[in-house]
Amino acid sequence: MEKDDIINLIQETASKEGINTYLIGGYVRDEILGIDNKDIDITVEGDTKKIAESLGERLGVKIKRTSQFGTFILFTPGFRIDIATARRELYPGQGKLPLVEPGSILEDLSRRDFTINSMAIPIGTTTIIDPFRGLEDIKKRLIRVLHGKSFIEDPTRIFRALRFAERLGFKMEQITGSLMDEAVEQRTLLTISPARIRNELSLCFKEIKKWNILERTAQLGILKQLGMVYPGMGFLQELDEFAAGLGIEKEPLYFMALTEGGRNRKILTGRERRYLNAAETLLAKIVPLKESEGRGETYTVLRGFPPHPLAYVAVKEDLRDKISVYLKEIEPLRLEITGEDIKSLGVGEGKLIGEILLRVKREKLDGRLSTKEEELDYARSIITRNRLRKN
Ligand code: CTP
Repeated sequence: MEKDDIINLIQETASKEGINTYLIGGYVRDEILGIDNKDIDITVEGDTKKIAESLGERLGVKIKRTSQFGTFILFTPGFRIDIATARRELYPGQGKLPLVEPGSILEDLSRRDFTINSMAIPIGTTTIIDPFRGLEDIKKRLIRVLHGKSFIEDPTRIFRALRFAERLGFKMEQITGSLMDEAVEQRTLLTISPARIRNELSLCFKEIKKWNILERTAQLGILKQLGMVYPGMGFLQELDEFAAGLGIEKEPLYFMALTEGGRNRKILTGRERRYLNAAETLLAKIVPLKESEGRGETYTVLRGFPPHPLAYVAVKEDLRDKISVYLKEIEPLRLEITGEDIKSLGVGEGKLIGEILLRVKREKLDGRLSTKEEELDYARSIITRNRLRKN
């Protein structure tokens, strides 16, 4: 279904139910700017559930209730429709999530971050409700807060401002810029939970201009304040390229780069923490890795490390060639023989089987074995030498 058909359906639903329904926020902003947006933001004055259920039925899709106050999500092929209840918000304290109760559309627009995001269109009309002159700011290409406490009440807006500025090529309106600097200086971001900080960075990583946004974040001293490090745009771009070549997920690498050598690992997922620990273990063995010669020796140093820590170290220590060969050729190489074959040579269950297989793989990697028979012969020779040594 096309976007216009969906909008028409929403309008029909709203007028049948007799409930005031508005297109709002990012959707309106992007429509005015002529930017394609797959998220359709709707706000309802009244029974949101009724609108969501009725629309879900007409579209033939399930509705999902979110944990947020009176909010539903519908997914159609190609679009995400967010349906929220118009609300007013009370900020209980710095960094805390606001207390929320139902309100009017004007109250809903008044609780928002920037003027460009604080416009609404009553569905089925061409009227723009624009109490904060967002339209004018779109024309002037400015990011402007609605009031002086905006960043203090919700410091994640600091990240949002930087994101929108870079994405849209907008400037920070002068007072807004000063308010943002003040909020940074007052260390308001330290009151935000690590999960929310992570979410903001994660959103930044989804942007086309992610490196510019991150650089601004670093220039403002935000990363340092949060106990993170800025490894530089060049390093991040190199990580990006290397990960693309390997076909591995990039986000864990970005987060590793922002936290290695810093004092804040709380923003990492459990998996990223393990990757970072592994990368540090490998960095501690960097001399034998750099000096390793031949595939067998490289295998001995790198085996067991997952691709992410390997990719990280590859870029950091400029070992891209060696580690690419490891990941693409050395690690995937499989022996013709298995542990069962070693057992049938009379070796009992235990560590020794793994050690023998490792030595056979090293020998094969160094090009001295090819057939299954050769592998078995080599395994036999190890076992015989072992027995002789024991006697
Ligand atoms: N909003 C806000 N303060 C926040 C987060 C959101 O005021 N900290 C408001 C803004 O009006 C925003 C709307 O909630 O337009 C929806 O939030 P979100 O979906 O995060 O933003 P979008 O503007 O849709 O941005 P994007 O294009 O990045 O999805």
